[in-house]
Amino acid sequence: MRVDDIRAQVKESPFYLYSQARISANYAAYEAALRGLDSIIGYAVKANNNMLIMRHLQSLGSGAVLVSGNELRAAMVAGFDPTRTIFNGNGKLPWELRLAVEQGVLVNVDSEFDLDNIAAAAEAAGKTARVLIRINPDVDPEVHAYVSTGLANSKFGIRNSHLQWFLDRIRALPSVELVGVHSHLGSTITRVAIFRDAAQIMVSFVRQIRDQGFNLRYLNIGGGLGIDYHHKGEKLPSPADLIDTVRDVVADLGLTIIIEPGRSMVANAAALVNTVTGVKTNGNKNFIVVDGSMSALIRPSLYDAYQHIELTAPSSEPEQTFDVVGPVCESADFLGKARPLPAPAAGAGLVVHDAGAYCMTMASTYNLKMRPPEWWVAEGGELRQIRRGETLDDHLRLFEG
Ligand code: LLP
Repeated sequence: MRVDDIRAQVKESPFYLYSQARISANYAAYEAALRGLDSIIGYAVKANNNMLIMRHLQSLGSGAVLVSGNELRAAMVAGFDPTRTIFNGNGKLPWELRLAVEQGVLVNVDSEFDLDNIAAAAEAAGKTARVLIRINPDVDPEVHAYVSTGLANSKFGIRNSHLQWFLDRIRALPSVELVGVHSHLGSTITRVAIFRDAAQIMVSFVRQIRDQGFNLRYLNIGGGLGIDYHHKGEKLPSPADLIDTVRDVVADLGLTIIIEPGRSMVANAAALVNTVTGVKTNGNKNFIVVDGSMSALIRPSLYDAYQHIELTAPSSEPEQTFDVVGPVCESADFLGKARPLPAPAAGAGLVVHDAGAYCMTMASTYNLKMRPPEWWVAEGGELRQIRRGETLDDHLRLFEG
């Protein structure tokens, strides 16, 4: 189906357009990569929490990785198996921990106070909390500082020098059972040797912890695999490349390997489809103004992230260099900078690619630009709305009563 035909059917703009088949293919790539390893694929719901997408991944056999009580509640509604679900986070709240322990999900210990809160939640629930310790391996993921998480001075996880304190404390807590270790280095990683370095460090922690008599069952190697945002024909590492790089390091430990992909599961399965409002020039800059904005898709503004942009229809106009901007009232509102594109007519379609991860979930209603609808082309080929667009009435309703 051509995007312009879809635009004609959807009738609203901008909108997110997904391919269900692409999500299935991304999941299948992880499944195939992990063959022969006892493993859990935990989809990082923060990347995209559309209920149909979550249900679809759950139906394929995926577990879930969560960072809030509401993500946990949504994951349970979507039907994820709690025993294949992990609750992460550096600021987990008492009610969130209580829910996690009640549901029997694996909980990551992130700090001294987090461990105390987990133990309190488990006691209150009359259950044993099954926990993994999140350890910072201090390996540089070579990514933007905002998406780098496993360095020594990161706000996440614990320093290895504190590990012994945690082991002693957990031994003294009857409501907490230590079942594994976790590390997550960062996001958009495109050099898989980094995962191997981290896995080797984590294996040394596994040995150290086992030597003290703990019965570990899980090694969680986190998420973070990057995708081909640039569309330049570069060969970027696949899930198979990632797993092949760590396989011999982790294979003989007798542990279940947990992996937590978010972006690489859904990013390339969607585009933000916009409509051109007009073209203008100021000084030496040309602008294409579209109806989508940083409210719908903030990654370029927040991380200077590149997402590939194309017009939906071929054009005989010569290419010029354009900044693609939205209507929101600040200069940070851009979807792409210095892009070679033919000048489009008002009403033309313009897509921002690879918008399936951290786009809709990070959307806001800034300037009362309401969150766009989401559609997918289902595996059977039919076009279907999978979330309606927000309306001003949704906003006004919050002030009733
Ligand atoms: N596990 C943990 C503990 C995480 O913190 C994250 C992402 C993931 C797994 C999934 O990582 P992924 O496979 O998606 O790279 N908003 C940013 C990305 C933030 C990532 C946060 N943590 C962006 O738009 O680039």
